[in-house]
Amino acid sequence: MKMLKVVKGTYDIMPEDAPSRVAIEEISRKLFKAYGFGEIRTPFFEYTDLFVRSIGDTTDIVEKEMYTFADSKNRNISLRPEGTASVVRAYLEHKVYAQSKPAKYFYMGPMFRHERPQSGRYRQFNQIGAEFFGESSHFADAEVISMIDGFFKALGLLQAVIKINTVGCNDCRPIYRDTLKESMGKHLNDMCPNCQNRFERNPLRVFDCKEEKCKEVVKSLPLIKDNLCHTCDTHFSALLKVLDSNAINYQIDEYMVRGLDYYTQTVFEVTHSALGAQNAVAAGGRYNNLVESMGGPSVPAVGFAAGVERIMLCLLGEEVTLTQKEDKTVYLISLGEEAKDFNFKLLNNLRKHSINACTGYETKSLKAQMRQANKAGADFVCIVGEDEINAEIVCVKNMETGAEESIPAADICGRFLEILQK
Ligand code: HAM
Repeated sequence: MKMLKVVKGTYDIMPEDAPSRVAIEEISRKLFKAYGFGEIRTPFFEYTDLFVRSIGDTTDIVEKEMYTFADSKNRNISLRPEGTASVVRAYLEHKVYAQSKPAKYFYMGPMFRHERPQSGRYRQFNQIGAEFFGESSHFADAEVISMIDGFFKALGLLQAVIKINTVGCNDCRPIYRDTLKESMGKHLNDMCPNCQNRFERNPLRVFDCKEEKCKEVVKSLPLIKDNLCHTCDTHFSALLKVLDSNAINYQIDEYMVRGLDYYTQTVFEVTHSALGAQNAVAAGGRYNNLVESMGGPSVPAVGFAAGVERIMLCLLGEEVTLTQKEDKTVYLISLGEEAKDFNFKLLNNLRKHSINACTGYETKSLKAQMRQANKAGADFVCIVGEDEINAEIVCVKNMETGAEESIPAADICGRFLEILQK
C-alpha cells in the first residue's frame, strides 16, 4: 500500500526538534510577561467573516490564502491565517474594553495560509505575537517595538533589523490614495497586470510589488510620509524620537506598506539576512480602527507577530543554538522476572517525583542492559537482582564517575532528588 506523506507545506516536529522551539517560546513568555502582557489562547478556526472584515477582502490572505470550508450546518469557517483578528474578537466578546484600562495579550500557536511553500514559507506555521489595546500614545508603539528588539536580542539574533514606516490614518490616507492614483494612472501601461488590477481596489499595494518594471514606476510615485496629516506626522516623529533616546536601532523604509488592511499610522517589519526572499521574521503595527470596525467602541491598538520557523532559520544563519538544561536520567536494570516487578514500582515512584526514569522489559544480560542505559543517555543506573530484592536495597551506579552505592529502596526518591539537585 502507498505510504501517506505529510501534507505539502506542513511538517512534523520530532522530539529532537522540539527543545529549540520550547526555548524560543519560553524566552518570549518570560520577556512578554515582564512587559505586562498576559497569555491568550483563541480557537484555531473562526467564522470566515471575522478575517474578511478585519484583514480586508482585497488582501492576498483573504482572496487566495485562507483554508475555508462549510461545516455541517453550512456555516462558513476558516482556519486562522493570523492571530490579531481572533484576539480582537475575544477582546470584544469578553467586553474587556468595559474595564476601561489598557489590555495586553500575547499568543503563540499555529496559523494556516495556502501559500506556495518555499524556504521560510509554510501552509501551517507558528506565530508568536502580542496585541496592546487602549493606548493611542506613541509610547505604546515604542513599548511594543522595544519588546521586539529585546526578544531578538534575548534570542541572540544580532543581525535582525527593525524597519519602520507610517501609513497614515482615515483622515490623510484617502487623500493620499487619490494623489497616488492620479500619479500611478499615468504609468499604468508600464505596470504588471497584478498592479493594474490593484489600481482601483488597493493601490498602496503597488509598493510591495516585486516586478522590476513596477519597482521602477514606484520611484516616481508620491510617498505617504509626505502626505500625512498633522496628527500622524507628529505621532511618527515622536515615536522615532523615543526610539532614538532609548538606543533602539531602526531603519525608516518609506516604501513599506503591509499586506493586511487594518493598519493605521505606524507599521514595522523585522528583517534578517538569513531569510532571502521571505525576509520578514516579524511584522506588525498600529490598528486604531479595527476594534470599532468589528462592532466595538473606538479603541486604539498596536501589535506584532513573529514567525517561529523564520526565527529558527535566523538562528541557523547566525549559528545560535538555544539549549535548555537537560534533566538527568535514571535507567533501571532488572536481573530476573521478580526484579521487573520491583523496578516497575520504583519506576513509577521516581516519575511521580518528576525524576526522568526509564527501563526495558525484555529479559537481557546485565551487559546488554548497560548498553541500553548508555543509549538512553542515562546518568545513573539502578541495578536490582535477587540479592537487592531480599535486602530491599538498590545498587546505584554513577555512569560518569563509575562510583557505586547501595541505597535502601524506601529512600531512593529522596536520595535522587538530593543528588540531582547538585
Ligand atoms: P504578517 O506579516 O502576515 O502579520 O505575519 C507575521 C509574521 O508571520 C511574518 O513576518 C512571518 O515571520 C510569519 N509568516 C507569515 N506567513 C508565513 C508563512 N506562510 N510561513 C511561515 N511564516 C509566516 C500578521 O500576521 C499580523 N497579524 C501581525 C500583527 C499583529 N499586526 C498587528 N498585530
